[in-house]
Amino acid sequence: DPAHIPVLCIDGPTASGKGTLADRVADQLGYWVLDSGALYRATALAARCAGVALDDEPRVAALAARLPLHFEAGRCFLDEEDVTDALRAEEVGLGASAVAALPAVRQALHQLQLSFRRVPGLVADGRDMGVAIFPQAQLKVFLTASAAQRAERRYKQLISKGFSANIAGLLQDLEARDARDKSRSASPLAPAQDARLLDNSDLSIDASVEQVLAWWDEKRAFA
Ligand code: DC
Repeated sequence: DPAHIPVLCIDGPTASGKGTLADRVADQLGYWVLDSGALYRATALAARCAGVALDDEPRVAALAARLPLHFEAGRCFLDEEDVTDALRAEEVGLGASAVAALPAVRQALHQLQLSFRRVPGLVADGRDMGVAIFPQAQLKVFLTASAAQRAERRYKQLISKGFSANIAGLLQDLEARDARDKSRSASPLAPAQDARLLDNSDLSIDASVEQVLAWWDEKRAFA
């Protein structure tokens, strides 16, 4: 029964470091990872490839419902194509934010997200893991960092992947995306009531990993 498989949720705004933290924590625990943002990004990319407008809710939802996505050795494939790097492009992120506002798309991706819950456990990263997808999760972390810090991290991430970028533009995009993710009516970005807040603006990655693992041990000790 998957309801007994442990889940640790890491939610938070864009570029808060969720992905890195989730990967590191999962690695330490030997758990699976769900990068739910990648599903919304892949949906946006699939729509663009199919020439479907991002606000065409029924058609985008139909694409999301049969997304030919698979993960293999840390890479992400859409059909036969390796889209790992393409998914990180800033315009794909903006497209993801647009399709993520459509309730039918969120519904279409719900079951797929649940299917990532496998033994021995799952670390799920996104916006609504703790609120909507895994409300019974043993631990919910809501990760934040200042917008300036996040813009700088996103900048370094893009440059290291060979994309061009500019900090002022990124900060603007990031604030626009935050505003949209928070104000949408379908699963707005907000911490679950029982989430632990972690502001990593001044924390190293190691320190953030340590904190989450300490919380996890604490929860498991009382489980
Ligand atoms: O985490 P990310 O930057 O890869 O997410 C891309 C977009 O997808 C983001 O703007 C909001 C959306 N998203 C969402 O609505 N729900 C999730 N669980 C994950 C991402």
